[in-house]
Amino acid sequence: MKHKIRLGVNVDHVATLRQVRGGTTTYPNLLDMVKKSVKGGAEQITIHLREDRRHIQLDDLKLLSKECPVALNLEMAATPQMVVYAKKYRPDWVCLVPEKRAELTTEGGLDVKKGFKKMFPMVEKLQRIGIEISMFIEPSIEQVEASYELGADAVEFHTGKWVLLKGPAKDKEWKRLVDAAEWAHYLGLNVHAGHGLDYEHAKLINKLPHLQEVNIGHSLVCYALENGMQQAVGKMRKLLK
Ligand code: PXP
Repeated sequence: MKHKIRLGVNVDHVATLRQVRGGTTTYPNLLDMVKKSVKGGAEQITIHLREDRRHIQLDDLKLLSKECPVALNLEMAATPQMVVYAKKYRPDWVCLVPEKRAELTTEGGLDVKKGFKKMFPMVEKLQRIGIEISMFIEPSIEQVEASYELGADAVEFHTGKWVLLKGPAKDKEWKRLVDAAEWAHYLGLNVHAGHGLDYEHAKLINKLPHLQEVNIGHSLVCYALENGMQQAVGKMRKLLK
């Protein structure tokens, strides 16, 4: 069955668990988790190659650029070095994201207006070789317009703030998301969303107008642990005399 909203599974935190022992363990195997995600219904795999390499490594990008069975979406900072990697490994999509070394996760959206001059030639170079570009932004009309002027193919709205808010503040943030999605669609941009989405908010995000794609990572890796712990311990118990 073909779904309307494309599910991108972000496997960064599979790599976090591997890297927490300095990459010395053979588990969890990233490619296996990618294949399992696809079996579960992932229509895209998303990875963020961070400058500090805290989770995804360059070798992961190399491997997935060859072996990923569905579309590959590379989240990356707008730096010349990352453009070199994107040109070499040719993911289907590049999602430009802001990146700060000290942050726990991507904390806010890109300031496309401020970074316009720097990003414009990068976007052009990548699009010229067939890579589609999405801009990870706050649900702000100003940022949607800047992304449109830049020539992006899509905007990905940062949903992390909305997920964490409660009460009237949450309703207000939802309205910002709806308005920004309507405007992006009107301008011909694809509407994507991601960050912090869990089962509860996945149900709600279905109502975002024109939504074509979501990228979900952390909650899915946690649900996988919750669902698989009993089985994993059971197998270890059997192995021990
Ligand atoms: N989309 C973007 C642009 C992101 O930076 C992230 C986090 O890496 C996600 C989606 C996924 O967020 P989460 O892991 O909270 O589901």
